[in-house]
Amino acid sequence: MVNFPPSGRTAVLVPAAGRGERLGPGMPKALRPLGGIPMLVHAVRALAASHTVDIVVVAAPEDSAERVASMLAEQSFQAEVVVVTGGETRQDSVARALLTLPDDVDVVLVHDAARPLVPEQLVTSVVAAVRSGIEAVVPGLPVVDTIKRIDGAADVECTVDRGPLRAIQTPQGFQRLVLQRAHASADLDDSSATDDAGLVERLGVRVHVIPGHEEAFKVTRPFDVVMAEAVLARRRAAGAV
Ligand code: C5P
Repeated sequence: MVNFPPSGRTAVLVPAAGRGERLGPGMPKALRPLGGIPMLVHAVRALAASHTVDIVVVAAPEDSAERVASMLAEQSFQAEVVVVTGGETRQDSVARALLTLPDDVDVVLVHDAARPLVPEQLVTSVVAAVRSGIEAVVPGLPVVDTIKRIDGAADVECTVDRGPLRAIQTPQGFQRLVLQRAHASADLDDSSATDDAGLVERLGVRVHVIPGHEEAFKVTRPFDVVMAEAVLARRRAAGAV
């Protein structure tokens, strides 16, 4: 039975165990600095600053979990922060973090460390939507480019109507039991679900989309670092950080 409305604590799972190879060689992506501060620290600060999150569980790369734990221990956050060892895939990292949650957590968000500049209002909106009784909530933005489906020879098969399409971000929010069921019935070797909502959809549970935010973009390629540094510089100039 799912309790509506949920009245327990809220946790955020932060998969941060990726190597970030598309960013080029170097340290794990979550540890790379933006404006002199590791991406992961930006992400945890934003989550904790929303005041709607009680616990943050970070899934760190296996070979740097201790380093991540001591780096986060040096900071003071407005939420409890726990570090676990991540897995081979993002899904595995999330599943491992999920296993560590205390019993009194009933709302769980999942947020990519690779989205370090997520505005705290977006975190608050996702938590509020789940606490209002929605089982699964994801932020999404309208698609701005023209989208075409191509074949193996890179010839266009068709142009897709972009009107109903949304580019989905994190944090994604779930009733804890729904997320647990989704992970319990997922195949760890199946990489076709690129987010947690994808696993929930397979259960037949409705996933609701709320407006996303441009600054919640994922830092994946070198150009994204340029954008992230620019966003940070603008926030600093405005005295917002
Ligand atoms: O690779 P991608 O950018 O899609 O990764 C999304 C998030 O999943 C990143 O924050 C990354 O650190 C995390 N991840 C993880 N464990 C893996 C692979 C990716 O926690 N094995």
